[in-house]
Amino acid sequence: MAEDILKTAYDPARFREAGHALIDQLARYLQEARKGQVPVLHYQHPDKEWDLWQAYLEKGDPKDLFERILERTTKVQHPRYMGHQVAPPIPLASLAALVGGVLNNGMAIYEMGMAPTAMERLLTDWLCRKAGFGPEARGFLTSGGTLANLTALLAARRSRGREDVWNKGYTSKQAVLVSEAAHYCIDRAARIMGMGAEGVIQIPVDTNYRMDPAYLQQAYDQAIKKGLEPIALVGSAPCTATGSYDPLEPLAAFCRQHNLWFHIDGAHGGAAILSERYKHLMDGVAGADSLVIDGHKMMGMPVLTTALLFRNGADSYNTFSQQADYLLSESEEEDWYNGAKRTFECTKLTGIFSWFAVWKTYGEELFTAYLERQYDLAREASELIRSRPGWELACLPQSNILCFRYLAPGMDDTTADQLNGAIRQHLLEAGTYYIVQTRVSGRSYLRTSLMNPLTGISDIRSLLDHIEGIAKAIPLSGN
Ligand SMILES: Cc1ncc(COP(=O)(O)O)c(C=O)c1O
Repeated sequence: MAEDILKTAYDPARFREAGHALIDQLARYLQEARKGQVPVLHYQHPDKEWDLWQAYLEKGDPKDLFERILERTTKVQHPRYMGHQVAPPIPLASLAALVGGVLNNGMAIYEMGMAPTAMERLLTDWLCRKAGFGPEARGFLTSGGTLANLTALLAARRSRGREDVWNKGYTSKQAVLVSEAAHYCIDRAARIMGMGAEGVIQIPVDTNYRMDPAYLQQAYDQAIKKGLEPIALVGSAPCTATGSYDPLEPLAAFCRQHNLWFHIDGAHGGAAILSERYKHLMDGVAGADSLVIDGHKMMGMPVLTTALLFRNGADSYNTFSQQADYLLSESEEEDWYNGAKRTFECTKLTGIFSWFAVWKTYGEELFTAYLERQYDLAREASELIRSRPGWELACLPQSNILCFRYLAPGMDDTTADQLNGAIRQHLLEAGTYYIVQTRVSGRSYLRTSLMNPLTGISDIRSLLDHIEGIAKAIPLSGN
């Protein structure tokens, strides 16, 4: 019996048959989603969703599984998907991810991932060159921007911290400086590293939600006065809520002046280094000690595909080593091919298959074309929003993220918060558009990340028309 079930489960002929059917099904799904004639999502309360899958687990037909999954998940390929920062994956990249799933080479040691290890080196070397780093730069792929940021800060501590916390534990209090608008994972990383809330020094932003470097010196001096040891400054490229890029050049200069590690969280828009038109947003990147770029955000990759790049490759080898001079003591030559010595993970995804396949097949131009189109679209959409009465932008877009709100003339902020919250809930439940919301300067804004190259300005126009229509029907307690 056990033999039979294993034979069946591992049968290549079944794999072929099911695989052909699944690819056909997914291709139909992609066709349908891109036409945009179906809802972007069928929102359901989490408890009901749980009930539904519980019932399926007990009585459902396994043959329906993929159909049901496709029905019950959000269609990131839909032109009216404008929500979170997740790319509609380039289909070739999705196929390459399937190859990784079949081969299951975990990459913890070189011989468990020879091809992907070499590919990772090639791709990250290329990204390092694009960032303006020199030949000693090195990088690797890791599982998401959150983990990459943590890994970079661990490297920062190893390199700049006065004490050897990695081996001896904490005796002093360290801190990182970061914009108040930065992604929460920086705060989380610092707390994981034992810095506590006090160790996350938030630098105020300007009216465009970019870190204001004018506050840096004062914040640094106050930290020292409090007995903290600042080890790193983190720039956002861009920050999550409004998509604003911190001014990286003055941040790099400040780090040089104070011997701080300069980390750039480019999870969302670090890929701007590939665009002649938008790379000015990354000016100063060559002075970074480390840089994160998420492939699954602005490079069309499936989740999770993140590059972590180090200007000085040796720093990446020291992060997790028992001895800071491990590189020389353990190995005469650079063993770039034993990835797990540098990554948080032991076994990890072969996300590189997706990135490499697209890079090789379509070239760098595809990544550039994608980012530029989406960034251009946000600018066009912002003009449209500004031209319509009743609409307000939080700030002009620097990336493909837009925050805006709808409010009637004379409406107070509290009522506007209520209205925009209700609009977003209505959109979520109707499923015709997927956008999200955020709080900016203490107020509720609608937020779109224009991730889909099939989203056009006509989709934005129809979103605004639609919102204006539903806003009229929303009862407001403050009005
Ligand atoms: C600026 C920024 N950093 C980090 C992250 C976290 O990246 P990930 O979701 O890949 O862990 C995000 C996610 O939205 C982000 O916007």
